[in-house]
Amino acid sequence: MLNRLHVTGFKSLRDATVEFAPLTVVFGPNAAGKSNLLDAVQVLSLLGTARTVAAALEDPAVRGRPAEAFALPAGGLAAWHQLAEARLELAADLALASGDYRYRVEVGVEPAAGQLRVTDERLTSLTARGESKRLAPRIGRDGDHLRVRQRGSGGHPYQEQLGLGHTLLSDGRFAGDQYPEIVETRAELAAWRVYYLDPRTAMRQPAPPREADDIGPLGADLAPFLNRLQAAPEHGRCYQRLQELVRYLIPAVSAVQVELDQRRGVLDLTVVEGGVEYSSRVVSEGTLRVLALCALAVNPWRAQLVGYEEPENGVHPRRLEQIANLLLDVAESGTQVILTTHSPLLVRHFAEARRQDPDQIRLLAVHRDRQGTSFEPFDDRDLFLDADIDDSLSEPLAAPRLETALARGWFDA
Ligand SMILES: Nc1ncnc2c1ncn2[C@@H]1O[C@H](COP(=O)(O)OP(=O)(O)OP(=O)(O)O)[C@@H](O)[C@H]1O
Ligand SMILES: [Mg+2]
Repeated sequence: MLNRLHVTGFKSLRDATVEFAPLTVVFGPNAAGKSNLLDAVQVLSLLGTARTVAAALEDPAVRGRPAEAFALPAGGLAAWHQLAEARLELAADLALASGDYRYRVEVGVEPAAGQLRVTDERLTSLTARGESKRLAPRIGRDGDHLRVRQRGSGGHPYQEQLGLGHTLLSDGRFAGDQYPEIVETRAELAAWRVYYLDPRTAMRQPAPPREADDIGPLGADLAPFLNRLQAAPEHGRCYQRLQELVRYLIPAVSAVQVELDQRRGVLDLTVVEGGVEYSSRVVSEGTLRVLALCALAVNPWRAQLVGYEEPENGVHPRRLEQIANLLLDVAESGTQVILTTHSPLLVRHFAEARRQDPDQIRLLAVHRDRQGTSFEPFDDRDLFLDADIDDSLSEPLAAPRLETALARGWFDA
């Protein structure tokens, strides 16, 4: 589980600290930095697992080019390219099965040359005692070198000059019993999933069958995932539960089917509404989004952490409470959830649920000013709850109402 994340120099998160619960709800006005936080989580996951730093910082993994991952100065990209050097740093406190760890990684770049380098990397135990404490850190810095320590005192630490194009955590040579903490941390980061669902195109594209254990960041693997779930007898119950969940959340839908079109070699995803089958090409965006949410809720190949954008999209307000409860179920069954939202209804629902179980849920109001994005716990407001939610979701500078702007002719050609 991700307990805490400290981010510096990443997009609008110039210097931000965020503490997480099993379910964390992030809300605030447009461009406050909510999605940037999910990008930071995704980048951290990829820095620990991808082959290169460049692959971790680039579209489609996160939005934008690698240069745009760095906090831009007042003059924008042009001014950034004048800098001699830029750095970003991510430091995560992780609760893993064997104890608590801090993984910290710093990435540097000379903007003119564009070469991305790991300029610092550390993996330290926060809970180690006795013998193992003596051996901490597992990955550490020694002058201009990084060192990786093996378990047991016999082995010499592995050394590498600073400035590699990949992290040592992602280096598959550090595997097996000699590097248990590295293996465990890498496995945790590899099991984080951040979704940017694309029901307009990616989710409607035909896909061939493949061994998908997830719907993919854009949702493009929804059909292969459902196909695999349906085909695996040991997971038959999961597929049945998916059908029940979809029927519960969208009563108009009576079934979801996946079939292989043998001639074309692709999977056809169809949704049955009122006895009529509709292909994924024509079903509504909201239906695809709810399907994706149900798929991740029943997934037997569980993620450790799920980042999910605006679960209210495409969902009827009356169904939002069920969606919120579904997400709470996911968090309770051991997959940490981080949500962004614009929905006062969702925020209110989670604020109320939090009163029953304060350790399970965390609400964070996001603010943005010249210093960048900050995250303020929004946890114990009983009085004026609705007014506070409303304030936190609106722009800091009150814009004139649309009618006023129209009356003043602001949009006239
Ligand atoms: N490299 C960067 N450096 C500094 N700020 C950046 C950088 N990249 C993006 N931003 C800022 O972050 C904003 C986008 O933030 P983000 O996508 O996280 O907003 P959001 O809170 O998710 O908003 P919405 O509710 O509209 O989805 C941009 O509009 C820009 O102001
Ligand atoms: Mg966003």
